[in-house]
Amino acid sequence: MDQELNGAMSSVSINSNGLATKPHLNGHNNTNTSTSTNNNSSSNNSKDETDNVRRKATTTTAPTTTNASPASTTVIQTSSASAAEKKKMVYELCQQLLLTDEQIQELCYRILHEVRRGLAKDTHPKANVKCFVTYVQDLPNGNERGKFLALDLGGTNFRVLLIHLQENNDFQMESRIYAIPQHIMIGSGIQLFDHIAECLSNFMAEHNVYAERLPLGFTFSFPLRQLGLTKGLLETWTKGFNCAGVVNEDVVQLLKDAIARRGDVQIDVCAILNDTTGTLMSCAWKNHNCKIGLIVGTGSNACYVERVEDAELFDVQDNHKPHVLINTEWGAFGDNGALDFVRTEFDRDIDMHSINPGKQTFEKMISGMYMGELVRLVLVKMTKAGILFNGQDSEVLNTRGLFFTKYVSEIEADEPGNFTNCRLVLEELGLNNATDGDCANVRYICECVSKRAAHLVSAGIATLINKMDEPHTTVGVDGSVYRFHPKFHNLMVEKITQLIKPGITFDLMLSEDGSGRGAALVAAVACREDVVNSK
Ligand code: BGC
Repeated sequence: MDQELNGAMSSVSINSNGLATKPHLNGHNNTNTSTSTNNNSSSNNSKDETDNVRRKATTTTAPTTTNASPASTTVIQTSSASAAEKKKMVYELCQQLLLTDEQIQELCYRILHEVRRGLAKDTHPKANVKCFVTYVQDLPNGNERGKFLALDLGGTNFRVLLIHLQENNDFQMESRIYAIPQHIMIGSGIQLFDHIAECLSNFMAEHNVYAERLPLGFTFSFPLRQLGLTKGLLETWTKGFNCAGVVNEDVVQLLKDAIARRGDVQIDVCAILNDTTGTLMSCAWKNHNCKIGLIVGTGSNACYVERVEDAELFDVQDNHKPHVLINTEWGAFGDNGALDFVRTEFDRDIDMHSINPGKQTFEKMISGMYMGELVRLVLVKMTKAGILFNGQDSEVLNTRGLFFTKYVSEIEADEPGNFTNCRLVLEELGLNNATDGDCANVRYICECVSKRAAHLVSAGIATLINKMDEPHTTVGVDGSVYRFHPKFHNLMVEKITQLIKPGITFDLMLSEDGSGRGAALVAAVACREDVVNSK
């Protein structure tokens, strides 16, 4: 049972300085799990990344030059005139992707309306933004100690972690990434949970905790109707998962059943949580102003601190704690048409061809699972119209899902006027004859799609900041799009600043592995008294 799983991908230990102590790749691909405590540095530990590997721009392709012989003078004039004309056409077609200030204001208003509908008992059943109660009421106070296991399911990979919380905000963490094969993502729930239990058991054996009974936090990043800290029914799958027999079931019980079926390890599941909750908790461990957790990765979602009296579905009576974390599940905003006034033909195309049509409308306009595909659809349309690449397409360009979201970050990482990354991406797409004009247009299309995503997220965050109405709010953020897109952070800061009430301030804090350490913290806070008592 302790033999290596086929899906095992990489293993790493980190200490509280964020230094990887013994990273090694185990084969398959270039994902690893080193992390960093530096808020500005890119880290590839993100659990929910669609494609997190930045390309190293090693070759520089010379810009296409035009032959300046007298015979080609006419060509120069025609092509430059037509380049300007093409640029204008690209610009015009992209206007539908840009949100005006009025539209963004209207979005804030609609998001607030939906959040309120989610919170209120009467309107909750029909609300799109469900605002699930998380049952997390205490933020970490820095005194959490002990050894915890964490499971992290909800992005491209599945991870198992062993976290040792120590004094002075110190922690040791070891983790291993396991692939979730496509056939398991869309197979049966039993298969999925058996796979998780097998990975857990192997991990425990490898890390010499096989015989220990450790508390475990389970980060399960899908819409969960929680009935307590250790009970939650799956509302619906998102992000390409669709395992049969799990919707409306208690996923903690499914995990416990799978562990019991194996019968080899003993686990105390202390908490189930969303990745947004983990992100908030891991930032709040160091920064007590952190009141919002945000993910912009494969999917998108936010959680925030709400007053208990406004969380009408919170059924714990009179425990004298004033606040509870709410998992908004804002990815479903717009499923009732509330976003139709800003949706485009490209958004409708993405939705129609997705595994969950009509669902996660907001998420599909924002997150890493869809951003590259949105760009691809715009490129295809413009190529077909003869505006890009002289009308010459390629098989890769015409194939769904093959314009990866990482390409958007890479193309926008080029210095203005330099198209090194852009050309490398286009070459990967089999488009080898792009002109500088084409590259500039491709870049503009990427900018429109990512700017729209950043502005949509900003509308949601500003709405939550205004609703909480605290003098200062720190937003803990994680996810591959936020981490790796070179402009996302700045676009958000600029837009949120415009949208929040005068007198309120905020900052965005990159989370240090929210899904892993956050899970340990939720478990630790849940059994804080036990830990203290057992000393
Ligand atoms: C899920 C959320 C999750 C988000 C980010 C969405 O698809 O519904 O629960 O927080 O992705 O991972």
